[in-house]
Amino acid sequence: MKNAAIVTYGCQMNVNESAKIKKILQNMGYNITEDVSEADAVFLNTCTVREGAATQIYGKLGELKVVREKRGTIIGVTGCFAQEQGEELAKKFPIIDIVMGNQNIGKIPVALEKIESGDFKHVIYTGEEDELPPRLDTEFDSKKTASIPITYGCNNFCTYCIVPYVRGRERSVPMDQILDEVKEFVQKGYKEIVLLGQNVNSYGNDLETGENFATLLEEICKIEGEYLVRFVSPHPKDFGDDVIDVIAKNEKIARSLHLPLQSGSSKVLKLMNRKYTKEQYIELAEKIKSRIPGVALTADIIVGFPHETEEDFQDTLDVVSKVKFDTAFMFMYSPRKGTAAATMDGQIDQEIKKERLKRLIDLQNENAKETSSAYKDKVERVLVDGLSKKNKEVLSGRTSTNKVVIFKGDKELEGTFVNVKINECKTWSLYGEIVE
Ligand code: SAH
Ligand code: SF4
Ligand code: F3S
Repeated sequence: MKNAAIVTYGCQMNVNESAKIKKILQNMGYNITEDVSEADAVFLNTCTVREGAATQIYGKLGELKVVREKRGTIIGVTGCFAQEQGEELAKKFPIIDIVMGNQNIGKIPVALEKIESGDFKHVIYTGEEDELPPRLDTEFDSKKTASIPITYGCNNFCTYCIVPYVRGRERSVPMDQILDEVKEFVQKGYKEIVLLGQNVNSYGNDLETGENFATLLEEICKIEGEYLVRFVSPHPKDFGDDVIDVIAKNEKIARSLHLPLQSGSSKVLKLMNRKYTKEQYIELAEKIKSRIPGVALTADIIVGFPHETEEDFQDTLDVVSKVKFDTAFMFMYSPRKGTAAATMDGQIDQEIKKERLKRLIDLQNENAKETSSAYKDKVERVLVDGLSKKNKEVLSGRTSTNKVVIFKGDKELEGTFVNVKINECKTWSLYGEIVE
């Protein structure tokens, strides 16, 4: 039996697509392994959102060169970096057999056949980026979490971001198809359904049926069963009252919302083409918190965008102090070739970026400690993820707000909801005991 390995970089969209690649390879008779050194085919499902992503891929290709020399492993590169680089990638790294954008992953069997025939030096499929990809079965690693893309691509062109160039224009998946998938996954026993898109709350803008993100959520929540719905990422500019209302009245929708901030400075936000101001963002965050009690907010934040002054950075710190995110993903601005910001003047020195990132992280860590301590003595409904990775003696799970909880219990509880009383709060995890 032949072995195949898939190495995934980047966002949850890539994780979802890797689960599809896995299923395709299994259908072809491959056994899936995590060890690339024993694989006959390796697919790197790549990201290119920041410079560091590409550096990681180069490192991995170096490692694969050795594996290939030993056992003739076929090497495929899929994902956003592959889409961006196209044929150039195979020219730069002759060990690569297949270069493929993610809307083409359905062609993996054809590509592998071509390479195995020996008639092709390499196979490149990076076209059709504006098509809706075909529906493909998925083989998730988790027995309890399933994800469903609801839109592909992005029309926003935030000036720092390469995603619209590698993922094409925004296309919404028809609502019936999404509802069928939710039903199917819930019936199979999945307890957490994650809706994916670059800008989920602009869902339906390209559909002529009048459906939108609020109606989609509403319809999903009608599907019977005990499960949680999450989604990433909504855009603050499209976060309407209708969506807030649907979340407020449906407990099935997780009390954790990702609200990418990017910057707290209205000047920088304008340069980023984000289409909201500092004040509008704060107002939205406050409204969400007051209408959805107990909600936890998370964010993405970039420091060191071109023209960001110390004063602009202080605005970012100010929003972070006011809104108090549970978690924030914080990045130094990384110029991406082909995006508008890459050629802007006013680029910020790397040392200043580093120093600002550190100050931001310090503030955020303080806040995280504080938001965490609010759970003390509360009873939380927790979805059990399974044995804790760090300590196999205890279970690990997450609250609706996506907070990690550690507690004693039977391994069999994996994939069920239990009530846990919180006894101790650390910054990144809570500790408690199961109660009735
Ligand atoms: N569509 C999603 C995710 C975009 S990529 C959204 O809009 O939220 C994930 C995050 O990477 C972004 O939110 C942004 O914070 C960060 N990012 C994107 N391009 C970047 C760049 N050039 N430099 C640094 N961070 C970047
Ligand atoms: Fe990139 Fe902006 Fe689109 Fe998100 S919304 S994918 S940050 S362009
Ligand atoms: Fe990266 Fe592509 Fe996702 S660039 S963040 S894998 S959409």
